[in-house]
Amino acid sequence: MGEMSAVCLMILMIGAAVCLSACPCSDPALCDPIQHSRDSEVFVFHVQGNNWKHYDWSKVTTVGLFAPYDPELMCFAHSKGARFVLEGDVPVKEVVDPKQRSAWIAGKVKLAKTQYMDGINLDIEESVLPHTPEYYALTDLVNETTETFHREIPGSQVTFDVAYNPNCVAMRCYNYSAIAELSDFLFVMSYDEPPPMWNKCIAGANAAFNQTITVLNLTCTLPKPTVNLKLLEVGNQCELGKCLFQWAPYSDAAVGNQVAYMKIMNQVNSSLTGRLWDDVQKAALFNYKDTEGKIHQVWYDDPESITLKATYVKKLGLRGIGMWHGDLLDYSDDPVAQEQTKAMWKALTP
Ligand SMILES: *[C@@H]1O[C@H](CO)[C@@H](O)[C@H](O)[C@H]1NC(C)=O
Ligand SMILES: *[C@@H]1O[C@H](CO)[C@@H](O)[C@H](O)[C@H]1NC(C)=O
Ligand SMILES: *[C@@H]1O[C@H](CO)[C@@H](O)[C@H](O)[C@H]1NC(C)=O
Ligand SMILES: *[C@@H]1O[C@H](CO)[C@@H](O)[C@H](O)[C@H]1NC(C)=O
Ligand SMILES: *[C@@H]1O[C@H](CO)[C@@H](O)[C@H](O)[C@H]1NC(C)=O
Repeated sequence: MGEMSAVCLMILMIGAAVCLSACPCSDPALCDPIQHSRDSEVFVFHVQGNNWKHYDWSKVTTVGLFAPYDPELMCFAHSKGARFVLEGDVPVKEVVDPKQRSAWIAGKVKLAKTQYMDGINLDIEESVLPHTPEYYALTDLVNETTETFHREIPGSQVTFDVAYNPNCVAMRCYNYSAIAELSDFLFVMSYDEPPPMWNKCIAGANAAFNQTITVLNLTCTLPKPTVNLKLLEVGNQCELGKCLFQWAPYSDAAVGNQVAYMKIMNQVNSSLTGRLWDDVQKAALFNYKDTEGKIHQVWYDDPESITLKATYVKKLGLRGIGMWHGDLLDYSDDPVAQEQTKAMWKALTP
């Protein structure tokens, strides 16, 4: 009996030693999942580099990891009370089979636990037609992912990214109301929207105010307890005269290139027009000439347009706001850049 106890004690000690050394934070309590819920979310996608150190952590509530895992970021986010969640992306045809689906979810939960993370952001940006096996599998995937994460990691968060318009945009004909109900919240990707006059090939805002709130209202009229998160993209560029697309159906590939806000800010004052404001679309723009003398037009969100949309988010009582992505602002020591970056973060929570 005495011998048995000794053996057991040894195993326990080894177990404890393994657990402790696996937590990379200076304070092991920082490896605990975040438990509390917030009234309002500020969801930040982290995509590259070390800029996360300079995010406005007084606002950030969730960081979505779309970059290699960095244990330092996990410890830091937890020290600020922010959740740190995985990206979840899988071809829908690979989760039609219930066994394969469970295995995929189990793998993600295991990874989240190993990395002391707080949930998953499902980013399945795939065409799915109604009433196909994939359509039902997607709803089941969300149901089972939420159920498994909540059970295995208490306090964890499961979210799902949806296109800016729920009406089969980009042939993403998902069961939005079911997905909204079965996840913690939807992340509405209110960007890459078609230009206001989609039959004409003219550049327009990335997320024109009127169109954004009109379709956001569609998503928000889904049955309760739908909660939505409004997403603003930091910068996007549409070249005048570039007309390689048809706007029916919409496709995100068609809207030009993503340009960092940092780059836009470095360009706007020396551009042909300087900053212009379009009062119909409620967005900023400017024209510039490239080295070959070709004129381009840049539409972008800045603190003025973001404040309008963020105010609307608040008025509608949505769950919060977020951006793709957090690493496009200028986090350098330059005083002008610091002011601009601060103003962008401030605009999120009017
Ligand atoms: C979600 O999964 C549970 C089992 O875990 C099941 O009882 C329920 O019907 C599912 N809901 C939907 C909408 O599929
Ligand atoms: C979509 O989900 C809702 C809510 O869970 C459900 O009532 C409805 O039947 C689903 N629609 C289809 C086409 O399966
Ligand atoms: C805004 O959207 C509404 C509803 O779609 C439309 O009736 C109205 O004309 C639009 N306003 C502008 C300025 O585009
Ligand atoms: C959206 O819904 C809000 C609240 O119900 C309403 O006040 C507003 O007019 C709607 N906006 C549009 C563009 O439909
Ligand atoms: C660009 O001009 C604005 C308005 O005059 C000014 O506030 C800003 O500091 C300028 N930006 C740079 C990078 O000089």
